[in-house]
Amino acid sequence: MTHAIDHSRNMIDLAGQTRERLVSLLTLARSFDDCTGMPKQDAELRARLSGKSVCNLFFEDSTRTRVSFSLAARNLGAGITNLTGPGSSVTKGETLVDTALTVEATGGHALVVRSGAAGAAELIAKHVHVPVINAGDGAHEHPTQGLLDVYALAAALGGGRESSFDLSGITVGIVGDIVNSRVARSDIIAMTKLGARVICVGPAPLAPRSLEVLGCEVSSDLDAVLGELDAVQMLRIQFERHGSGGSDKPGSPPGVGSVREYRSLYALTERRAGGMKPGAVIMHPGPMNRGLEMDGTVADGPNSVVRKQVSAGTLVRMAVLADLLGG
Ligand code: CP
Repeated sequence: MTHAIDHSRNMIDLAGQTRERLVSLLTLARSFDDCTGMPKQDAELRARLSGKSVCNLFFEDSTRTRVSFSLAARNLGAGITNLTGPGSSVTKGETLVDTALTVEATGGHALVVRSGAAGAAELIAKHVHVPVINAGDGAHEHPTQGLLDVYALAAALGGGRESSFDLSGITVGIVGDIVNSRVARSDIIAMTKLGARVICVGPAPLAPRSLEVLGCEVSSDLDAVLGELDAVQMLRIQFERHGSGGSDKPGSPPGVGSVREYRSLYALTERRAGGMKPGAVIMHPGPMNRGLEMDGTVADGPNSVVRKQVSAGTLVRMAVLADLLGG
């Protein structure tokens, strides 16, 4: 038996959220920030979701998202249970929906779902009655990543944007394998809802014109747009999602002749980073292939907020859990 989804009681995608709700969640996340980007050590906060139980259902690998949802739940006093595909009865043929219904029946109060299949979190949300949070579904969306990227970007920009989350007047480049990236989709939606101009950059098969329907611009020439950017989000090439027919040549990203050619056209090298606006914010959602899409020295450089993005993930996920579990 399925039912309609109430987007205010679930976090399935950012496309289903208003700008006001994004700002409300980001503001709640900021109230948990100890001013260094880490969660406040506060007894009241640590009891906020006391008695609640959050279940991570991760049917695809993760480091950042799974760990930060676990810590976010604990920081609010909730219990956390982790279930992964291997080691669960999914390997015996149980469906994702039956798995979710089973976990709900054990007493879980919220389900955090990651899956390689677009639509998995929405499908589960149509069957269960507890809040469902999408932790990444195929190439569809990764809504808490979109929120944390905006949080880290606004904090780095400062000038009042760290509390208003207003990104008007800011141009953000998202570079790389956009078409396979749920992060890119959630970033484009979040950033444009908050007023930013977003330019997606990559070879045409990875950054097709059809992305413009999301409200962004598209370019295949990174060097032509680099000087306009106030921030850049570099993406990993998701070779695992290209399939056997996805490459022009085996081992080559679609649209270019080789990894070397891709690097020469689209990597954020030290030289390219040096040509950006002074203070331009450098981002990467992780996991990163150092030396491919971005030089290690740039990832670790003074304008990089890669680690701050990860810290923002815990704050934003605390906000989403607190909001949905009513603490
Ligand atoms: N950015 C992100 O979702 O990373 P993980 O796959 O490690 O969770």
